[in-house]
Amino acid sequence: MARVIDGKAFAARVRAEVAAHVARLKAEHGITPGLAVLLVGEDPASEVYVRSKGKQTLEVGMNSWEHRLPVETSEADLMALIDRLNSDPAVHGILVQLPLPDHLNADLVINSIDAAKDVDGFHISNVGLLGTGQKSMVPCTPLGCLMMLRDLHGNLSGMSAVVVGRSNIVGKPMAQLLLGDSCTVTIAHSRTRDLAEVCRRADILVAAVGRPEMIRGDWVKPGATVIDVGINRIERNGKPVLVGDVDYASAAGVAGAITPVPGGVGPMTIACLLANTLTAACRANG
Ligand code: GUN
Repeated sequence: MARVIDGKAFAARVRAEVAAHVARLKAEHGITPGLAVLLVGEDPASEVYVRSKGKQTLEVGMNSWEHRLPVETSEADLMALIDRLNSDPAVHGILVQLPLPDHLNADLVINSIDAAKDVDGFHISNVGLLGTGQKSMVPCTPLGCLMMLRDLHGNLSGMSAVVVGRSNIVGKPMAQLLLGDSCTVTIAHSRTRDLAEVCRRADILVAAVGRPEMIRGDWVKPGATVIDVGINRIERNGKPVLVGDVDYASAAGVAGAITPVPGGVGPMTIACLLANTLTAACRANG
């Protein structure tokens, strides 16, 4: 059976390191890192994430501001708020929770955030910096995956990595990060021909397609490391359950190591958000 990668424990270690660093920053430089989270509308899943972000931000000793805006908020009003946060020196990180309501242009909104405060790493400048191997804000979920992979393998150089999913939030930045660590990277997706065969080539298989339990054990190379980014709510035997993009039961019998859902990648995302906010505060203060 595969080794189970404990993302919950890993995330707790990252948060403890962030908290220790925040305490030093306060004591030695009088700086308290601060994160502003903007939520437009009342999407229930987003509400849960935003609450969790606020709680964990306070727990590591940072300032946290939540801006909850009505669903009918105009682009101009949202961007005016972002402008205000951009020029507020107490705010080091700004996160606009996605998805935004349909009448708002997410690209326009995200690109109005000061790139230095873009702790999600979604601003076009950060995307470009990451793509050219320069210092940038790195999207939190792929960063969390990379940290777990480095912890497990040490050096990833020369490994064959297959990323299933091509989103701007996970798939594309994940591929860039793996390339940066000298993996041979394939980006596959729902239209890829012979997807099972492509997956079977992977020493590192990252699943981020948003399709419940799509990747089965017979798609996994024996001994491979499987990172499951999926969080899908489905019903099983009449009960709601959370499953990943990987069929855990069959994949765990073939893989060398695997992240569970929940308790794998999920907890690492917010831990990396806190780490990015700390990085932004350090950079803002030289
Ligand atoms: N919605 C789903 N994932 C994310 C994320 O990583 N950042 C933001 N801002 N919204 C999201």
